[in-house]
Amino acid sequence: MRRVTTALAIIPAFTFALLLASASAAQNPGGSDAGKKLKNPVASSPESIKAGQAVFQKNCRFCHGADAHGDGPMAPEGTHPSNLTDDKWDRGSTDGEIFMVIRDGAGPKFDMKGFKSKMSETDIWNVVNYLKSLQGK
Ligand code: HEC
Repeated sequence: MRRVTTALAIIPAFTFALLLASASAAQNPGGSDAGKKLKNPVASSPESIKAGQAVFQKNCRFCHGADAHGDGPMAPEGTHPSNLTDDKWDRGSTDGEIFMVIRDGAGPKFDMKGFKSKMSETDIWNVVNYLKSLQGK
């Protein structure tokens, strides 16, 4: 009888731990192993960087600023868009991790929503190449 009770007590605790693990992965898509494993299929050519810059000016500038310094004039009040030209990446610095933030949004608060319904994967990789070309500028 005692054994049964213990088993019953363990199941909810285990389920809860599993739920927590999957919830935090969904909330913070960057900095993840999946992002690290993702390879950038688009070579960082001048064409790709130029295409990425155009996409950035259209979709990202009003929050992150024209030069991607994080000072966009129309960022929603109370949000703090990241400076994308420094070497500080809260959600991981590999191409794949940056790709996942742009595609899925910046958790856990999602002040920045994901762009997967607005941009093709190639466009997202072009933006990643553009951002990488800005490092240190
Ligand atoms: C509505 C405003 C908004 C728009 C539009 C937006 N962002 Fe963001 N972005 C943010 C905010 C706010 C953060 C920081 C979230 C946080 O740290 O809480 C962020 C974070 C990021 C990060 C993570 C930086 C890090 O340090 O890990 C990347 C990369 C990024 N944005 C790229 C982009 C790109 C590329 C676009 C356009 C396709 C874009 N963002 C559009 C508001 C925005």
